[in-house]
Amino acid sequence: SPIRLSEYRAPAWRVERVELDFDLGIDASEVTARLRLRRDPAQQTPLRLDGEGLELLAIALDGQPLDPGSYRHGDNQLEVDGAQDGSVLETRVRLQPAANTALEGLYLSGSRETGFLLTQCEAEGFRHITFFPDRPDVLASYTVTLRADRKRFPVLLAGGNPEGAGELEDGRHWARFVDPHPKPSYLFALVAGRLEKIERDYVTADGRAVKLVMWSEANVIDRCHYAMDALERSMRWDEQAYGRNYDLDVFHVVATHDFNMGAMENKGLNIFNAKYLLADPDSTTDDEYRAVEAVVAHEYFHNWSGNRVTCRDWFQLSLKEGLTVFREQQFSADMNSPPLKRIEDVALLRRAQFPEDAGPLAHPVRPAQYSEINNFYTATVYEKGSELVRMLSGRLGTDGFRRGMDRYFEANDGRAATLEDFLGALGDANQVDLLPYLVWYAQAGTPRLKARRDYDAARREFTLTLSQHTPGTPSQPEKHALPIPVKLALFTHEGRMLPLHLDGHPRSGDTELVVVLDKAEQRFVFREIDAEPVPSLLRGFSAPVILESHDTPAELALLLRHDVDGFNRWEAGQQLAIRAYEALREGGSDAAIVAWCDALAALFADGNVDDALLAEVMTPPGEVELAEREREADPERIHAWRQELQRRLATRISAAALLQRYRTLAQATNGQLDAASQAQRRLKRRVLELISLLDAAQGQALATLQYEEAPSMTDRLAALSVLVRTDAPQAATALAHFRDRYVDNPLALDKWFNVQTQRRGAASLASVRELERDPAFTLKNPNRVNALFGAWARSNPAGFHQADGAGYRLLAERLAQLDALNPQVAARLATAFNGWRRLEPVRRAQAQAAIAALAEQAGLSRNLTEIVQSMLHD
Ligand code: ARG
Ligand code: ZN
Repeated sequence: SPIRLSEYRAPAWRVERVELDFDLGIDASEVTARLRLRRDPAQQTPLRLDGEGLELLAIALDGQPLDPGSYRHGDNQLEVDGAQDGSVLETRVRLQPAANTALEGLYLSGSRETGFLLTQCEAEGFRHITFFPDRPDVLASYTVTLRADRKRFPVLLAGGNPEGAGELEDGRHWARFVDPHPKPSYLFALVAGRLEKIERDYVTADGRAVKLVMWSEANVIDRCHYAMDALERSMRWDEQAYGRNYDLDVFHVVATHDFNMGAMENKGLNIFNAKYLLADPDSTTDDEYRAVEAVVAHEYFHNWSGNRVTCRDWFQLSLKEGLTVFREQQFSADMNSPPLKRIEDVALLRRAQFPEDAGPLAHPVRPAQYSEINNFYTATVYEKGSELVRMLSGRLGTDGFRRGMDRYFEANDGRAATLEDFLGALGDANQVDLLPYLVWYAQAGTPRLKARRDYDAARREFTLTLSQHTPGTPSQPEKHALPIPVKLALFTHEGRMLPLHLDGHPRSGDTELVVVLDKAEQRFVFREIDAEPVPSLLRGFSAPVILESHDTPAELALLLRHDVDGFNRWEAGQQLAIRAYEALREGGSDAAIVAWCDALAALFADGNVDDALLAEVMTPPGEVELAEREREADPERIHAWRQELQRRLATRISAAALLQRYRTLAQATNGQLDAASQAQRRLKRRVLELISLLDAAQGQALATLQYEEAPSMTDRLAALSVLVRTDAPQAATALAHFRDRYVDNPLALDKWFNVQTQRRGAASLASVRELERDPAFTLKNPNRVNALFGAWARSNPAGFHQADGAGYRLLAERLAQLDALNPQVAARLATAFNGWRRLEPVRRAQAQAAIAALAEQAGLSRNLTEIVQSMLHD
């Protein structure tokens, strides 16, 4: 039975202080917990603690061992009689870290001989470590003592400040950590094993000396320097942008290759998937460097948005995740190019969140119910959640938002808060009512925003009529109108921005305004407009909606050429590309195709556009996004049309011009990480792809050379990808070379798996089957699973969606096997079936059969069951 937001009750029992003693071992670890309990006098509920898979060895209340009649130990719960306000409950349990393949709770990373122990508690992993009220609104002070064999576990870490360490008998040692900040159990962490470190001294703006330490296995410790720099930048940025200082004497960060998610913000002891921490020029792409910087920042920012102010319950997850994603996006924009960051984030939203919101798994940013909370770490909670914070910040302006955030942190420090607390603090600090925005949090689905326009030359008036409609989603057929901020400008046909005279608007007269549509339909009349203008709407993507406007190809081309909002410039190109794509598919007029190709050819020739932006503008919307626009999608045809569209572009630019640009870019090739070098690599890749569409043999020859001479992973992988995708005769040699070179580098080897999933059509299925048999493949490692099955099912729709259903059956079979090992990873991978209802009938039937067969398997986890059931019955 699902857990419902409407049924929230404050905890009847809290824990004020907890002392945890660990005796650590690979096969067996023992945990003693002493909980000082507080009882809510208003509630009469008996003491019930969460606990899963724990072997109870001893139990005592206020120093007295309990006899078996006075407690009941069920599957997931421990109920204890006789506890009172102020009682101390002591339990001792045994765990089996090496047998833990779910990577939740205490587990082993790496081999039994050389690996290390670590924990993952969010969302509900702590109950796999000890008996506890494992819910985020129980905040306790932690004292943690670790004991282990010194040779096998020379490094012992837990969250908080170090408070002593020493030797024990028999070659064992101990270390103690005290966290002065009360925290929920999901932020607990420990790490123990053979690890190396790099360190840096840091002094916070408010004068605290902090030791920053990054830990990894010895062979990769050299790859932590970039992340250390990124951490320091993040800490400075949060001090300046939000006035937030770090609050412990040490900050530890640990890299592991065995991790279910990206990273985890455990108080004082962040733990990272190595993918988001390790970086070096030889094995890390530019995109990955930026991802490392972003995730390091994200986890660090959680120290305030998540840890100091945490969530009352898991329904409020976006309170910390949406907010922290937003803070990370601001940071990354400041560190890199703001328009590019915006483009990447919106592209991600469209690729991952819009389909989620339009499919069987659609849920609000604040879900109303769940059966397995780990299924709700979604693009909706994270990315759409961030867009909602962005709207609020836009509504309040930079200073107002900062004022509101100051208020939010002050009023809720040390508390488990709700989204109402957040909107309340932001609103109070600015004397505005933001509660109307709560509808955005409660309502699933992507709103459609329609823009109609009328120009009255006689009255010199331009009227914009905006209307909204949100299609129904599973269990939410009816939708309300939302407040939708629309940032806009009007352009003349010469590409100049007009002053906007709008009655009653506080900023009337500016060339850019935000209007808020907060009913089903609304008109906005702009005065003193001398000729019919070209509107640029939803600038900077001011709201997470689908805009349906009726710009002509010529108008979109004009914006693509002249808009000063970098995002909207790209967006005009995307809209134009969609028109061109549809024209190509329908075989009607060529006007849109010609307009798109001409506009891009002009930008390509003109040299005034930043290389990276140019590369993005020259990339049409992806296959997933194009499929979203169809009711009966055939992924193979979508792929073919999109390729044809790009071929038209390449032809229009001309083979000679492409080749010339490629040569120029190749000449400038270096392995540097500065923005200009990264931008060149990005454009070079795009140009190489276009060349290979016109002349596969020439593209393959260039790619082979680029592969051999590449000074960076970005160039090497781009070349390899062209070879694989074009089925080049040179591909096999390059792939064998790559595998050899990186056989000891799991992150690089993941790319070797990943790239080979991108072959076209049935060939990709054959590749996947072959790669599964590679000795380096294992279902036990989440990164490897995602590099093979995730990359195939999500990034190669034309390959995965074979009409005979063979792809679906293979994935479904592996999901069942994976589920037995790691339910979280299985459930997330299963969401790759999300769009099945909108496939053409043959594939739809095949997909349904495969999902239904999976659903019928006995013993599926709660995680996978919830996904598969929602998928089948929406
Ligand atoms: N809080 C982590 C983050 O920074 C995500 C961890 C979620 N883990 C999980 N098993 N659901 O986004
Ligand atoms: Zn997070």
